[in-house]
Amino acid sequence: MADIAKLQIGEDTFEFPFVKGTENEVAIDIKTLRGATKGVITIDPGYKNTGSCKSDITFLDGEKGILRYRGYAIEDLAEKADFLEVAYSLIFGDLPSTEQLDKFYADIKAQSVVDDDIKKIIDAFPKTAHPMGVLSSLTSALTAFNPSSVNVDSEEDMYNSIVKILGKFPVLVAWTLRKKQGLPLNYGSTSLGYVENVMKMMFEKPNEEYVVNPIIKDALDKLLILHADHEQNCSTSTVRIVGSSHAGLFASLSAGISALWGPLHGGANQAVLEMLEAIKEDGGDTKKYMAKAKDKNDPFRLMGFGHRVYKNFDPRAKIIKVAADEVLKDLGIQDPILDIARGLEQEALNDPYFVDRKLYPNVDFYSGIIYRAMGIPVEMFTVMFALGRLPGWIAQWKEMRSNKEPIGRPRQIYTGENLRDFVEIEKR
Ligand code: SDX
Repeated sequence: MADIAKLQIGEDTFEFPFVKGTENEVAIDIKTLRGATKGVITIDPGYKNTGSCKSDITFLDGEKGILRYRGYAIEDLAEKADFLEVAYSLIFGDLPSTEQLDKFYADIKAQSVVDDDIKKIIDAFPKTAHPMGVLSSLTSALTAFNPSSVNVDSEEDMYNSIVKILGKFPVLVAWTLRKKQGLPLNYGSTSLGYVENVMKMMFEKPNEEYVVNPIIKDALDKLLILHADHEQNCSTSTVRIVGSSHAGLFASLSAGISALWGPLHGGANQAVLEMLEAIKEDGGDTKKYMAKAKDKNDPFRLMGFGHRVYKNFDPRAKIIKVAADEVLKDLGIQDPILDIARGLEQEALNDPYFVDRKLYPNVDFYSGIIYRAMGIPVEMFTVMFALGRLPGWIAQWKEMRSNKEPIGRPRQIYTGENLRDFVEIEKR
């Protein structure tokens, strides 16, 4: 391939350099386009063909179903690493040594208490509030109690903001759940590991000693790893663009949580369970829902299917599907929902509508089955996605700020009214 892209507009030819990544992806660098062409820009709704940045963090190949964090295959990380190791590698560039990991966790534990006034904010929410709205609000509110976290100009300040949110976010997640359940807003124990402590804070009953179930701990660790990053998805792009105005890390994360909430994005894991429940209530009539999904006049989509980038199996869905089987078996749970999910998957994988559009199960299709087996309420599923995605958001935000990227400000093509005279209200 030549190393220059040529664009012909009328009689003029414009040349633009290529950018080539370490996995041989190629982009046309058009940063001089508008100036060189005296005003011509590109337009690409949903940015399906547009790169927003160069990044060293995550590589995915949608055609081949490949996902790697910092060069490590997701299959290896899910099998051999734990969530905190993966978080460290995403944020700082490589898997930690034992010493690095021990110091990282010690620094996080030192920041794992939140100001008690946060409870007043939680108390102001109705019990019916969706946990994602509560979590987004609390994450932004953290800035008020940690104003210095906005300043990340030095490496030390950046590190302090990072360990602060990694320490405090699990408390907000647990308290968001417990508020809905009418349980006391407690802390866990710094004698536990990161994921065990999350479980204790979420599930501990006030009148009994909490014992960590290793099956659930391993499954949760794996799920959090699988959700940890996914390059420039909707919520990560949100975190990066909000941070590009030099808004603080916590405010940027709060915006990312709001973006993740949408049912086309992270909210899909909740929507999948609600869909599977509806099919079960409907006598397991999967064919009716397949028909709805294919009907252009019906807004219904097969939730947990399709992906902007994966046009093959989502590698995370493959791992989660196996884990769902194992967890339910190990916990001795028979969940008819899993059988309905498998039936739906088989039907879709043999249906031309899905095959032609390369619609495969994505990360959200099976994850909710495991969360439910863990006793997590369906409204909390996307909160668990946010807990997993936190290190990825942090890593991407840190990369954007460290690279001193410019403020994000896309252009547009105006299609409204041309200049017209003002008309007084009496004459309208
Ligand atoms: C996540 O980007 C990421 O990396 C996200 C994520 C991450 O880790 O951050 O992977 C997490 O968000 C996973 C996706 C979770 N969302 C869902 O499961 C919701 C259901 N899926 C769809 O809404 C959809 O597939 C999207 C939003 C995921 C992707 O949509 P695109 O890329 O914009 O594709 P599209 O809407 O242009 O669809 C192409 C065609 C259309 O049909 P035609 O117009 O060509 O006839 O496929 C159809 C769509 O109608 N289609 C579906 C479908 N998904 C796409 N039809 C029925 N059911 C579906 N689920």
